[in-house]
This record gives sequence, structure tokens and C-alpha cells, in this order.
Amino acid sequence: MREILNKLYNTHDLEMDELVYLIENADTTIINDIKDHAKALTLSIYGNKIYIRALLEFSNYCKRNCMYCGLRNDNEEVDRFRLTKNQIIESIGKAYDFGYRSFVMQSGEDEFYTKDLLSDIIITLKENFKGIAITLSIGERSFEEYKEFKIAGADRFLLRHETADQKQYEKLHPDMSFEERKRCLYDLKALDYQVGAGFLVGLPNSNPTIMAKNLIFLKNLEPHMVGIGPLIIHKDTPLKNYKDGSVEDTLFYISLTRLFLPKAMIPVTTAVNTLDKKGLEKGIDSGGNVLMLNLSPQELKEKYELYKNRETKSVYDLEKVAERLENIGYQAYIKRGDHIDWSKEEEGK
Ligand code: 5AD
Ligand code: SF4
Repeated sequence: MREILNKLYNTHDLEMDELVYLIENADTTIINDIKDHAKALTLSIYGNKIYIRALLEFSNYCKRNCMYCGLRNDNEEVDRFRLTKNQIIESIGKAYDFGYRSFVMQSGEDEFYTKDLLSDIIITLKENFKGIAITLSIGERSFEEYKEFKIAGADRFLLRHETADQKQYEKLHPDMSFEERKRCLYDLKALDYQVGAGFLVGLPNSNPTIMAKNLIFLKNLEPHMVGIGPLIIHKDTPLKNYKDGSVEDTLFYISLTRLFLPKAMIPVTTAVNTLDKKGLEKGIDSGGNVLMLNLSPQELKEKYELYKNRETKSVYDLEKVAERLENIGYQAYIKRGDHIDWSKEEEGK
């Protein structure tokens, strides 16, 4: 075991069999050692800044039917909404005036936002609000669409791979394929986006081999961001009788991901904060360095119900968040905050 850990700490890579052995045999002492190394590594690269992203959930319409997700198309209990171009510009503008420069625009897979409409929104945002970074999180699209959005000014794209096991992926995502998911992620990389992938912890039939596959998939893809969250059961989905994923396991995979991809931007996800009141502190202690705060009005936030009791903090509660960060020796950073390998040009503006 010691040999495997040293290899992980020194080379930031492991073979499949070593990783499976580690996941199967990591006791509390080992887990804590891994966490300490992950936290120190994060500090050595990004210092004590926690990068804050302002998240706008602009549509909860979705054509997909992911088995775990409350927004799935078949769920008729959802009160669906879409924001207009003006509403999007208004809410981002308000947060811009507050000081935020990094925005995530998230929605279900909603074809209402065509290539032209979404490009137009992105162009207008970039014109009106100088120095912002726009991250899209809108699901699978064609290469051509991704290209248009990039030309329009989108900087980053989040598309979790959810699980790197093809069989598990296809069971949980009816009418979707893992091949197509990979196509999207590699297209986004080829188009020079800062790309975010990531996976769910505690999916049905997961095992150490599948979790090791997730890490090796990430190592090969080399995304700039990795979102990792526990599964949280939603009562109006086919997984309603299943159980939540574990926060402890999620923190362990945040640490392993940090050690595999030292420079990645890794959020302490909303799902972690939902299941654990001290999720923020624990996530940072495990190697997380990003936090997303919500900029939607309360009534719309409630309609964006991926899972129950989603604990979303508002961008306008920054003071409270900053205080929690200060208490553990960290600072909230609300500017663009690019991946360290990315052009530094935008930063100083
Ligand atoms: N529990 C946890 N995470 C979920 N997501 C969707 N539904 C759930 C759930 N029930 C995650 C998916 C998706 C992201 C936007 O939300 O990983 O990529
Ligand atoms: Fe749609 Fe995303 Fe939910 Fe899947 S996880 S049903 S793509 S909103």
C-alpha cells in the first residue's frame, strides 16, 4: 500500500489494478493521508483562494430522461420555466455590478435555445459585461453548435461524464450513449474550451473498478474542471427506492481526483453541501477549490429540482460564505479565475 501511495503522490498516476487495490483497502488512516496530500497540493497550486462561480439556471426544460434526475422529461410534477434573453441579461448584469466575473449558464437539454438564440445571448453578454467568463452547462450538442457558442464568446463548458462505465452509463441514460458523451467532451476540448467533466458517487451497481475507471477516464481526457457529487434520491424518478450516495466517499474521490489532476478546478458541489452542513469546509479540506453560488430568484431555484432539498446559497450571501472561508484560512475570489494553464491575459483586467 505504501508503495502505491508514494507512486500516487509523486507521479499523480496509477495503473488500474493499483487504483482498485487502493479504493478497496483504504482505511481511515490512509484516507486521511490522501486528503492531507490533496489539500496541500491544492494550496501549492492555487493558494488559499476559493473561486466563486455565479450560477444561473435559465431553463428547467429537458428532453432527456436520466434515471436519477428530477428534471427528467417524463416527470410531469415539474413546473417548467425558461428565462428570456432579457431576463438572463438582467440577472447576470446585477451580479456583474456586485463584482462577479465568472458565470455558469445551466439548463436541461432544451432545444428552445437554438444555436442562433444562444449565440446571440452570449454575444450580448460579452459585449455588455467586459471581462467575464461564460461557462455553459447545457448538455449534448453538435460540434457545429459548440463551435458557434465558442465563437460567440463562451469560455468554458461543463458536461459531466456521470460514469465512465459504458454499461452503467447506458442503463442510467435511456437513448443516450457513452460514445456520444465522449464525442462531446473531446469536441469541446478540440474547440479550445476549458472543459469540465465529472461523475456521480453512489450510483446503483457502482464498485471499485467502476470508480477507478472514472479516474482513469479523467486522466486521459485531462479536463480543466471536475465536478463530483453524491447521488441524491428524488422521489419522482425511477431511482426513488434507492439510497443517497455517501459524502465521505465523495470527499475521498475529490482527493483522488486532485492527486490525479493536480491543476484541475474542483468544485465543492451543491450536492455535497446539501447532504452535509459542513460540506464546504470538508470539501476544501479534501482538495476542492471552487464554489458555485446561485443567482436565480428563490421561486425559480425551487423549480430547478435535480434532487430534494437542494441547498443552494445565493450570490448575494457572499459575506456569509466569505466568513466561513476566512474561518478556515481561505479567501473568496469572485473574478474570472481561470485554470492555471490558461492564458493569464484576462486575469489582470
Ligand atoms: N443527485 C445528484 N446529482 C444529480 N444530478 C442530476 N440529478 C442528480 C441527483 N439526483 C447532477 C448530474 C448532472 C448535474 C447537472 O446534476 O451529475 O450532470
Ligand atoms: Fe436533463 Fe441533465 Fe437531468 Fe439528465 S441530468 S435529465 S440531461 S437536466
